[in-house]
Amino acid sequence: MKEKRKLLYHLVLLLATFILGLILWLSLILPYSEVNDNFTEIPGYVTHSELYNFTYPLNLLPGNDYGLLVNNSFNFSILNLGCSEQTFLLVLIHSAPGNFQKRNVIRSTWGNRTKKIKIFYVMGKALLDIQNKILHENQINKDIIQGNFKDVYRNLTLKHIMSLKYATYHCPQAKYILKTDDDVFVNMPLMQNFVNFDLSPFGTSNLLFCSVRKSVSVLRTYRSKWRVGFEEYPCRTYPTYCPGWVILYSPDVVFKLYKSAQNTANLFWIDDVHVTGILAAKNNISHTDSTNLIISKRDQHSLVEKKVFPAKPFLFGRPDLEADEIKSLWSGVSAHKVPKSALGV
Ligand SMILES: *[C@@H]1O[C@H](CO)[C@@H](O)[C@H](O)[C@H]1NC(C)=O
Ligand SMILES: *[C@@H]1O[C@H](CO)[C@@H](O)[C@H](O)[C@H]1NC(C)=O
Ligand SMILES: *[C@@H]1O[C@H](CO)[C@@H](O)[C@H](O)[C@H]1NC(C)=O
Ligand SMILES: *[C@@H]1O[C@H](CO)[C@@H](O)[C@H](O)[C@H]1NC(C)=O
Ligand SMILES: *[C@@H]1O[C@H](CO)[C@@H](O)[C@H](O)[C@H]1NC(C)=O
Ligand SMILES: *[C@@H]1O[C@H](CO)[C@@H](O)[C@H](O)[C@H]1NC(C)=O
Repeated sequence: MKEKRKLLYHLVLLLATFILGLILWLSLILPYSEVNDNFTEIPGYVTHSELYNFTYPLNLLPGNDYGLLVNNSFNFSILNLGCSEQTFLLVLIHSAPGNFQKRNVIRSTWGNRTKKIKIFYVMGKALLDIQNKILHENQINKDIIQGNFKDVYRNLTLKHIMSLKYATYHCPQAKYILKTDDDVFVNMPLMQNFVNFDLSPFGTSNLLFCSVRKSVSVLRTYRSKWRVGFEEYPCRTYPTYCPGWVILYSPDVVFKLYKSAQNTANLFWIDDVHVTGILAAKNNISHTDSTNLIISKRDQHSLVEKKVFPAKPFLFGRPDLEADEIKSLWSGVSAHKVPKSALGV
């Protein structure tokens, strides 16, 4: 009897150890899969009151700065203006010249321009037949910004710096600058409330808001077009950076990154790592995590497939969306009441 009890006792102990080990192992494996609510931790940004009036200190740039992109001679081959004192949010959507449909999907869904929100599509130069179509597209929509460099992925960093240049020289009134791609969904009604009520209608500084990536390993696979050679980037991991598909900047951060980019001849071609990682670190700019405000996979699936609108507020869809997914997300968002806050407070 006593022996049996002892055996049972040992079995229970063994089981308990096993379960404890499992929990410990899971907690090591899973820490980043669920909540990552850094937003509620001490933020790196500062919100301002009525008295704040940021002006871009253009006098800190060299006299020939406008005509240069890093050290290439630069001009805008298509340029649209239109920011004014009423402009609050500038949205710069990086697009490839041939993506006519993708731009139209955004124009007809979340990318509706208002007095307060200016939206532009940012690209480099294309081959002649596509270039002619773009000129036509721009005549109708007046929302293209094009630089005089070739639009190839090895030039993505030039595109990113051109966006910062546009904000600096042509839209200094905007209190917030949002950079996205043409396959992204932004919940624009909630975005307006987010910047106004969760941040500040008078502006914010030191804001670099995105789904922060930490200690990402450099891709060395020879088969990938995204392979990075050791001569291009020698370290094993990247500095903390913002994946480029959606980034919200305050103007002071735009200016610091722009100025620094123009001074950094050693141009790493992966644009988000270069601008929001390497240059951000150089300039002591901290990142604020937006991961908790991206719709979850499950919620997006329910919304797109079953038209079930999630209870949890979301500012962004998931990356790399299809046109139909963007349309479904927009139908859902436009049919529902906009919460006053994205943070659920
Ligand atoms: C902010 O400063 C700029 C330049 O100094 C000035 O033109 C503008 O009127 C100011 N805006 C406000 C709201 O004070
Ligand atoms: C723009 O740059 C291109 C080449 O970099 C040059 O050929 C062209 O003359 C420039 N246009 C203007 C208006 O400066
Ligand atoms: C865009 O906004 C205007 C008002 O600013 C509205 O009249 C128009 O219907 C909107 N278009 C779309 C496609 O939502
Ligand atoms: C990037 O653009 C510049 C200017 O048009 C061009 O000279 C260069 O070849 C482009 N880079 C690549 C990899 O094509
Ligand atoms: C211009 O930039 C390239 C690469 O970005 C660099 O190799 C070159 O040294 C730079 N030239 C000058 C004069 O800074
Ligand atoms: C970097 O920022 C931190 C806090 O934001 C500050 O304490 C530190 O002095 C800054 N360092 C430099 C070199 O600006």
